[in-house]
Amino acid sequence: MPDLRQGCTTGKSSEDTAPSDALVLFGAMGDLAHKKIFPALCHMVRRGHLDVPVIGIARAGRTNEHLKERVRDSVQQQGEDVDQEALAKLLKLLRYVGGDYQEPATFDLLKKTLGGATRPAHYLAIPPDLFMSVVESLAKSNCMKNARVIVEKPFGHDLASAQRLNAALHAVLPESRIFRIDHYLGKEAVLNLLFFRFANSFLEPIWNRNYIESVQITMAEKFGIEGRGKFYDDTGAIRDVVENHMLQVVAFLAMEAPTGLYCDSIRDEQVKVFRTIPPLDPKHLVRGQFKGYKNEEGVARDSAVETFAAVRLEIRSWRWSGVPFLIRAGKCLPVTATEVLIKLRKPPLDTLAGNTSNYFRFRLGPGDVSLSLSAQVKRPGEELVPMPAKLTAVETQTADEVDAYERLLGDAMHGDGMLFVREDAVEAAWAIVEPILDSGSALHSYEPGSWGPHQADRLTTDVGGWHTPE
Ligand code: BG6
Repeated sequence: MPDLRQGCTTGKSSEDTAPSDALVLFGAMGDLAHKKIFPALCHMVRRGHLDVPVIGIARAGRTNEHLKERVRDSVQQQGEDVDQEALAKLLKLLRYVGGDYQEPATFDLLKKTLGGATRPAHYLAIPPDLFMSVVESLAKSNCMKNARVIVEKPFGHDLASAQRLNAALHAVLPESRIFRIDHYLGKEAVLNLLFFRFANSFLEPIWNRNYIESVQITMAEKFGIEGRGKFYDDTGAIRDVVENHMLQVVAFLAMEAPTGLYCDSIRDEQVKVFRTIPPLDPKHLVRGQFKGYKNEEGVARDSAVETFAAVRLEIRSWRWSGVPFLIRAGKCLPVTATEVLIKLRKPPLDTLAGNTSNYFRFRLGPGDVSLSLSAQVKRPGEELVPMPAKLTAVETQTADEVDAYERLLGDAMHGDGMLFVREDAVEAAWAIVEPILDSGSALHSYEPGSWGPHQADRLTTDVGGWHTPE
């Protein structure tokens, strides 16, 4: 079987597909680098997928040794057996560049450190308000020639700022060299949704408004904002996960089959889904904030930022018209679990079926990927009555599994944009959430460890309530 991504090189120039010869990481001392990026780089080295200089940029006053210490600490905190050989190799690839992102001198130093590298990949793992000036400085200092830019989410703060950012990027780079990260697109379990839908023929006849009654996605996190107070208070749940991760899951669940093995075959279908979702009505939004949030470091004492959001959206397409899609995401909920529940319509007569619906349940994480199908069977015994039965398939996570960041960084460094958010998709996604951003809609407080404000229940009264992840 060809890898779906092999088609992504078709029709591209060798300049587009030549691997990057240096990785420049802006935000090297930041939280994301520590939690996700360094472990991913170590895995890439272990598999022989990374052997180019990795230049970490951070505030002035640190040294190469500080950067190495940070990488060691990050990799060791993964709680898995550390591959010491890979770690040692990664440490050798590291170079530190210190300085202010606003200062031209920082970029001159970067240019010098790049040495003979002519096709760097610049990874902006920094707060979104710095993206634009960093991109402009990279261009001015001549670090952008033949470069790729990998941009972390959130891409902008709203539709207008995303458009400005797109324009600033396009002033110095073509779209084929811009990689907007949404790490959900690199997750094994999320990609599995595509395979489950389009590599099996049994689903297609029922995957539509005639058989599906509602779709729910819950992204529950047991933990709070984990020291990211400043970032989170500028962002909130809608910008942090709904506009991106959750809408991408909706797109994978709702899209039409990609029509070919080429990079944009999936991205074209994604954007079509976004364009058929009308901008969200604040009436269909419930926001919550967990009690104690305002006391977190970096959070305004009078913050009105949501740590929980529940929305109900519709997709105006032939396939999905009339099927509610419900999204609920929050911090400090009872469990950490991301699940999709596809509820099927009841059979036309309840003579045998009783009052229960069938459903598909996809567990997207954390941990093992699973798929369950609930069905009705005959209860063993004399009586002719139904009972629910559940068929579950679990794919156990292995130590060798490719993590989302590892997959995406490798793809970006090879110029493969299939699993990145295209310019039109990011703008279409912002257009969906635009009316609910800063809409001033009520903010309900909720107890940490609860399922968020009870007001969210009103969004699901007609579909049997929210599904609790298992
Ligand atoms: C990030 C958000 O993009 O995704 C975090 O900024 C969130 O707030 C995280 O916790 C969840 O990612 P994952 O892979 O742990 O589900």
